Order: sequence, then structure tokens, then C-alpha cells
Amino acid sequence: MPPSTSWLVLAILALTAPATPPAHAAPVASFDGQREFDYFALALTWPGTYCQRTRSCCPSNGCCRGPNSPTTFTIHGLWPDYNDGTWPSCCSGASFNPKEISSLTNALEQYWPSLSCGKPSTCHGGKGSFWAHEVVVGVNYYISIEKHGTCSYPVFRNEYDYFLATLNIYFKYNVTSVLNDAGYVPSNTEKYPLGGIISAIENAFHASPLIVCSKDSIEELRLCFYKDFQV
Ligand SMILES: *[C@@H]1O[C@H](CO)[C@@H](O)[C@H](O)[C@H]1NC(C)=O
Repeated sequence: MPPSTSWLVLAILALTAPATPPAHAAPVASFDGQREFDYFALALTWPGTYCQRTRSCCPSNGCCRGPNSPTTFTIHGLWPDYNDGTWPSCCSGASFNPKEISSLTNALEQYWPSLSCGKPSTCHGGKGSFWAHEVVVGVNYYISIEKHGTCSYPVFRNEYDYFLATLNIYFKYNVTSVLNDAGYVPSNTEKYPLGGIISAIENAFHASPLIVCSKDSIEELRLCFYKDFQV
């Protein structure tokens, strides 16, 4: 993991260039024999900001659940990354079997909801390599394992381990609760200093978050982990 100061710099850069996500080089096209990744980023979405762009609803869109829409940070993905700023994507993997994760489906629907409609697979020309066609297209966590999970070898060797570890990390590092406890409660009117939010996370987790903003609101917060999930 890069020294924490560089993450602080990134967070500030992200703020000065609002609506644009932090600069990321193009993903490394890699299928078989891809280079092993260096670290993981857990990307969390703040639905209150993300869902403001919602234009259409569908059954899989978590933004459209009315009073049951998510009010905590939700999982965007667990991404294997390289230290040089690139990342592998759409690697080859064992064939995907939704039945293998049936015991996790409820938790995944709740904590890793899709926040848009019908986003098809982005791997292999939009067709997906092992896409289970009976699965609802656009379900966030399926997209995530196809695009990123397959590249997390050798840490995760199957889909169940990937999803379970992501849920466990998400429970362990509860960003919503840390911010609430530090007095940063969601508000459409109150403005909070970015430095205070970053400090609250640093004090709780001893690591600096990368924050992506949209206009003046937090849209995403990322935490980096070594491969053994120490921050
Ligand atoms: C995180 O903390 C919030 C606020 O305390 C709580 O509502 C939520 O259930 C927690 N999330 C998880 C995944 O434990």
C-alpha cells in the first residue's frame, strides 16, 4: 500500500475536480496469466448522493425502494489493484454458479445493492465469459465478481470466498457508524469539513480513505487493504 500521505493527496484532488472520479489509468486487459495484483480497495457508495442521478427504476435498482432504500454506505465492490494505479479486470475464472452463494444472497441484496438499472456485463464485449443468463442482468455483485473477483486469485479461489470476505470486511469497517459517532450525520443542508471526515476514519481504522465527491457531497469512500486484509 502506498504511504498514507499519497491517499490524502488523492482525496483532496478528488475534491477539487468534483464530478470526475480520481484519475485511473485504463484497466490492464488480461485474461490468462495476468500479473498478480498488489492490494485490495473496498469501494463503498453513499446512496444518498448516487441516487440523485436516478432517471429510471426497475426491480433491481436499490435507489427505487422508497422508504426501504439504503441509508448506509453500501458496497460498490472489492477491487484488486496494482500499485502503479492500474488494475486487472475481466480475468478468466471458474464457471460461475449462483447456487454456490445462495446462502449469501439476502445479505448481498441488502448490503451490495445495484443502484441503477440494466447495466450489462462489461467483460468480454458485454457478453461476459461465464455470465449466468438466468441471473438478472444489472445485479451489482454479479458484475463485480466477473469484472474484479476473477482477478483476485490467488487470495480468493472461488466466488463464495470472494463474497463472504467482502461482506465480512464491510461489517468490520463500518464507515457509516464511525461517521455517525463522530457527529457526521447525513444532511442536505449542513456542510462538513473534508479533513474532519478523513480524520474520523483515520482515528477509527488507522488508514486514510480515498473520497470521491459529486458536487459538494460524498459519493464514494474507498479503503485499501493488504492482501491479508490488514489496512
Ligand atoms: C453500520 O452501522 C450503522 C449505524 O450504526 C448500522 O445501522 C448498520 O447496520 C451497520 N452496518 C453493518 C453492515 O453492520
